[in-house]
Amino acid sequence: MELTLNQLKEFDGSDPSKPIYVSVRGRIFDVTTGKSFYGPGGPYALFSGKDASRALAKMSKNEEDVCASLDGLSAKEIGVLDDWEKKFEAKYTVVGKVVS
Ligand code: HEM
Repeated sequence: MELTLNQLKEFDGSDPSKPIYVSVRGRIFDVTTGKSFYGPGGPYALFSGKDASRALAKMSKNEEDVCASLDGLSAKEIGVLDDWEKKFEAKYTVVGKVVS
């Protein structure tokens, strides 16, 4: 499945009949089983329906960091993102990718 960032927004958990998706480095993970984290009111709901790469790398919950840009990140931050990506791969299923 290929989704634009705009289409990805549909899967932010606000409609309980739809799955919840979070993208990491353009790969879309189905995080519906992590609803307590990513569903409405969850601590990481701000990542839902978005590419969270930059926020994960920076360990940030600032809205402006919830994007795919890795511009200017340090090697250490890229390493943090690598670790998150492994965690997501172990826990969730990749259902597609983000296209422009
Ligand atoms: C005081 C600050 C924080 C506390 C106490 C906290 C606590 C936790 C806890 C208890 C978990 C569950 C771990 C597990 O059992 O798998 C978790 C997971 C997670 N945290 Fe945090 N966290 C904090 C800050 C942050 C920040 C700033 C971010 C931003 C990137 C973040 C992103 C995540 C993500 C993405 C998960 C994985 C959820 C999943 O399994 O899908 N956390 N956090």
